Amino acid sequence: MDDRILTAEKREDDLMLRPKYLDQYIGQNEIKSNLKIFIEASKKRQEVLDHVLLYGPPGLGKTTLAYIIANEMNTNIKITNGPSLEKPGDLASVLSVLEAGDILFIDEIHRIPKIVEEVLYSAMEDFKIDIVIGKDTQAKTLNIDLVPFTLIGATTRPGDLTNPLRDRFGIDARLEYYSDQEINQIILRTAQVFETKISDESANILSKCSRSTPRIANRLLRRVRDFAEVLNNSNIDDKITSKALTQMKVDQAGLDKIDHKILITIIQNFSGGPVGLEAIAASIGEDRTNLEEVYEPYLLQKGFILRTPRGRVASKKAYKHLNLQ
Ligand SMILES: Nc1ncnc2c1ncn2[C@@H]1O[C@H](COP(=O)(O)OP(=O)(O)OP(=O)(O)O)[C@@H](O)[C@H]1O
Ligand SMILES: [Mg+2]
Repeated sequence: MDDRILTAEKREDDLMLRPKYLDQYIGQNEIKSNLKIFIEASKKRQEVLDHVLLYGPPGLGKTTLAYIIANEMNTNIKITNGPSLEKPGDLASVLSVLEAGDILFIDEIHRIPKIVEEVLYSAMEDFKIDIVIGKDTQAKTLNIDLVPFTLIGATTRPGDLTNPLRDRFGIDARLEYYSDQEINQIILRTAQVFETKISDESANILSKCSRSTPRIANRLLRRVRDFAEVLNNSNIDDKITSKALTQMKVDQAGLDKIDHKILITIIQNFSGGPVGLEAIAASIGEDRTNLEEVYEPYLLQKGFILRTPRGRVASKKAYKHLNLQ
């Protein structure tokens, strides 16, 4: 079985689980109430919504929110991502198919190449682009007028965006980790969509193990539901929940095998730290970006590791959690 609990899930029932409107979107209250105002104001003025930048760790609901904004604005949404916009021409062709008022969603916007980013500036600011076609003496600049549109950019790495790009977003929203209570609500909602019975205690246990992240909550629920279907008449009770979590090697704090590896490496191979991320990654054979974007933020947030100028340090809590001296 896949022991990673953090990869993106792109499936039919994933779409089904996505809330469609702001009112169904649980948590992120500040973002929701601001968006409601901005959306209503732009509708009243019959103008396009200002460009929106959504950022935060994976699985917190950035893509979901982009779709919701499109639904709330009653517009189409076209989806692309940073790495696939290799040349200015790629961006031009995406922009040229937009209809007035459409939303263009660029996922992983920090990964668009510099030459494309520069074209994006004028697209965002003036709804115009200049594209150079041909080479050397044959080169010609083509000025293209675009229809008004809203760009929604999403990124897990806002620090990698250049200032000129960041400044062109009028609305900027940082998604936060969810409280256990909000995750609990998400689990109950998902169970309802699945038409699965789940005890309050099970929902509680699961919400504490979900790393404060909706994607993981849904994912764990899917797996627990598998165990319940096969072993427990489809009933999710606390016993089957605990059994499923143990089988999946997810502990009470939601830490999985890789989290354990990270903490144990810091403690045993590097005497508790400080140690650089690069060294940890090399030592456990994991991708550095994955560590930095996916694993570390949660370990930091829960206080299992601390960040110091000289590197990462395992906290007392980590020693205690792992029963290590
Ligand atoms: N606020 C929420 N309420 C209910 N469900 C949510 C919420 N946020 C996210 N989800 C669920 O969690 C899943 C993951 O969300 P989403 O794909 O939008 O995350 P993301 O931030 O775009 O992640 P990534 O950075 O990996 O692209 C969605 O399928 C959705 O069902
Ligand atoms: Mg996404």
